[in-house]
Amino acid sequence: MTGVRIVGVGHYAPERIVDNQELETWFDTSDEWITSRTGMKRRHWTSPDEATSDLALAAARNALANANLEPGDIDAYVVATVYPDYLFPATACIVASKLGAVDKAAFDIEIACSGFIYGLTVTSSLVRAGVYKRVMLIGAETLSKLVNKEDRGTAILFGDGAGAVILEASEQDSFLAAELGSDGSKPELLRVAAGGSRRPVDHAALDEGADRIYMEGREVFKFAVTKMIAATDAALAKAGLAKSDVDFLIPHQANKRIIDAAMKYLDIPAERCVVNIHEYGNTSAASIPIALSEAVRAGRVKPGDVIVFVGFGGGLSWGAVVWKWA
Ligand code: UT7
Repeated sequence: MTGVRIVGVGHYAPERIVDNQELETWFDTSDEWITSRTGMKRRHWTSPDEATSDLALAAARNALANANLEPGDIDAYVVATVYPDYLFPATACIVASKLGAVDKAAFDIEIACSGFIYGLTVTSSLVRAGVYKRVMLIGAETLSKLVNKEDRGTAILFGDGAGAVILEASEQDSFLAAELGSDGSKPELLRVAAGGSRRPVDHAALDEGADRIYMEGREVFKFAVTKMIAATDAALAKAGLAKSDVDFLIPHQANKRIIDAAMKYLDIPAERCVVNIHEYGNTSAASIPIALSEAVRAGRVKPGDVIVFVGFGGGLSWGAVVWKWA
């Protein structure tokens, strides 16, 4: 088995910024409530003519430039998203084609906000097993198009963006361990009820908001804190590491209070945790790769640093990956 490392990172967020003050004009909310309950100040939203693949494409181009590689140098393209351009074909096929990468493997991963964590495990495994030499993993979302803009409990939370990493076969191995999990017994806690085969979209028959994101925030909050800590613990144990060995925490950006709980548990000081929730809100599968790309480009992450990537979301699902930066 060979090793794997990340040789390029990139990210992109749409130009349009929706700040808390703008949301105050939509429904009964306040900058104070949103900031204190979530840590969010702004989020980036797509224009009507931008789809998920457009954001993914921009992040992919950034990552290729960062790695000094051409699209044809990548053997497989993987997009983690909960809101693809179409039900099918896979958004990854569109991205690879628009990059000019001909005849390459391309597929999507859909496991909501855990998409990057699951994706990193799958793509690392493809490289470590010797199936592919280089794989691009992109987390990309346009959840502003899927939120119920009349539901103040969810409309404030979600933003759009994309982050990409390029994985390459290497003598050193950055992938130390992964812990993935799911519990599909209560899909109603966080879902879009209509639009799939369980309930195909028939707008005449839909109840209000059934084709939009619905979340039982308080339940999901409790689950998120519990699973984030448990997944981190389990992944560290698999890697044979202790909490004190962790140099960096790069968590899914769903709520600053959830991140704070994980930081407290791991005893990680603020400068060792990547938080950009104030700028982007919750970008689902894109949040961890955007945070990673920003941290790497700012020179915050150094070779040898042990990073814990940890995420959770719809499914319900969760996961953590322990990674040694090379
Ligand atoms: O990435 C996927 C995973 N997602 C998550 O992990 C999100 C997890 N959940 C959360 O982050 C939090 O539960 C929320 C941020 C969604 C909500 O925060 P909360 O502290 O759990 O608030 P709550 O739902 O318990 O609501 C408290 C009050 C309610 O009013 P009453 O019933 O106490 O009168 C809500 O109606 O806050 C009200 N509220 C709002 N008030 C002003 C809900 N949304 C808003 C709002 N502005 N935007």
